[in-house]
Amino acid sequence: MQQKVTLSEKEMPRQWYNLAADLPSPIQPPLGPDGQPIKPEMLEAVFPGNLIEQEMSPQRWIDIPEGILEILYRWRPTPLQRAYTLEKILDTPARIYYKNESVSPPGSHKPNTAVAQAWYNKEFGIKKLTTETGAGQWGSALSFACSLLGLEAKIYMVRISFDQKPYRKTMMQTWGGKCVPSPSEETQTGRDILAKHPDTPGSLGIAISEAIEEAVSDKSGQTRYSLGSVLNHVMLHQTIIGLETKKQLEKIGVKKVDSVIGCVGGGSNFAGIAFPFIYDKINGSDIDIIPVEPQSCPTMTRAPYVYDHGDTAKMTPLMAMHSLGHGFIPPPIHAGGLRYHGVAPLISQSINDGLLTPEAIHQLECYEAAMTFARTEGIIVAPETSHAVASAIRQAKRAKEEGKEKVILFNLSGHGLMDLLGYQKYFAGELEDYALPEEDLKESLRSIENLPKPQKMSVSEV
Ligand SMILES: Cc1ncc(COP(=O)(O)O)c(C=O)c1O
Repeated sequence: MQQKVTLSEKEMPRQWYNLAADLPSPIQPPLGPDGQPIKPEMLEAVFPGNLIEQEMSPQRWIDIPEGILEILYRWRPTPLQRAYTLEKILDTPARIYYKNESVSPPGSHKPNTAVAQAWYNKEFGIKKLTTETGAGQWGSALSFACSLLGLEAKIYMVRISFDQKPYRKTMMQTWGGKCVPSPSEETQTGRDILAKHPDTPGSLGIAISEAIEEAVSDKSGQTRYSLGSVLNHVMLHQTIIGLETKKQLEKIGVKKVDSVIGCVGGGSNFAGIAFPFIYDKINGSDIDIIPVEPQSCPTMTRAPYVYDHGDTAKMTPLMAMHSLGHGFIPPPIHAGGLRYHGVAPLISQSINDGLLTPEAIHQLECYEAAMTFARTEGIIVAPETSHAVASAIRQAKRAKEEGKEKVILFNLSGHGLMDLLGYQKYFAGELEDYALPEEDLKESLRSIENLPKPQKMSVSEV
């Protein structure tokens, strides 16, 4: 009974996979304020040139520089584990595998791109990075990466998470990063929002605006902004997860996976596990690929495919994505990292191309699933990750009903050891399910009514 499949450092993938090279319908370009596709120069105040190049690259395989691999070796390759005890408790004929990204020093998949981004920025001569963080995992990951590469890190942490997770701030400090609650008094965006809504829980959209404002305001030109999700280059860096997984499945002779599952905030851990399998699906494999989101922030299952900004203050270019509207402030559920109004353009386009089957799950079902997982497999997962666990359990129960020996794979994006307040509230019966009312959704979408619309091409039209 082999419980975990490991790879040696030598077996780690040497290239990332770029899904943009293979999507069936044409990529919808980001647009500038004039409604025209942006030119790379327009991003130069925000990102270094080498990452802008990667963001726009049509190349299928991109080499991972040796300097990045050397840092990733500290915890990669991560194990692929079989959830034998969970299978037994569920009495399912399905085999459940999970890729354990919680073994990184900050506790999630986020350092895969944090290290890459810090490395490329350093190569470009940048001294300081600014960013936002929702759950605190991304801020910790960037602080960790910056400390290893000798860069300064400044993190705007969504107020609600800042209050719920004080030890995340201490982690960031330990790695030398500076963390402030967002909205803050440190930027014009933050001051304007606080003047109107002094008690706001904040949102990722607001925190992104603050971090970009600080980066572009540094006249020395030595500060850039770093995003933990959504953008193409972030998805790219995460594909090492799925590429390792494929090698691990091959090692144990698993030729076919039936379901691939990941939770989605902006989409990076899902992209990491799923993009290499989307490649197989485009090339004829029959795989159910399931991105999972909270019912309270239903970007993929209820929001339209539109052009919208990635942040509240409209500083980012317009991106073609499923969006609840850039002004949307999600309810303060405990999965802070899933409280984002949009979803990565590459994932949005994959949904439109019919390659994915998105699913929305309520908070309580997710906590129940997390509890079952902790009491069978032993890992206390992050509240974000619990959405993937809940979906995997749904699939395993379905396999039992159908009497099918399915292979289910999910990404265990992070541990929840810094997220125990949510668990505590669950035990105290203080958590509730909340489905976004249709009226609130319509109201939020009104702010983006007049923005340009992406071309909606079905695969058969291409
Ligand atoms: C553990 C964990 N999983 C998932 C997410 C969601 O982000 P993404 O959709 O980019 O993977 C976060 C975000 O903070 C996270 O901390």
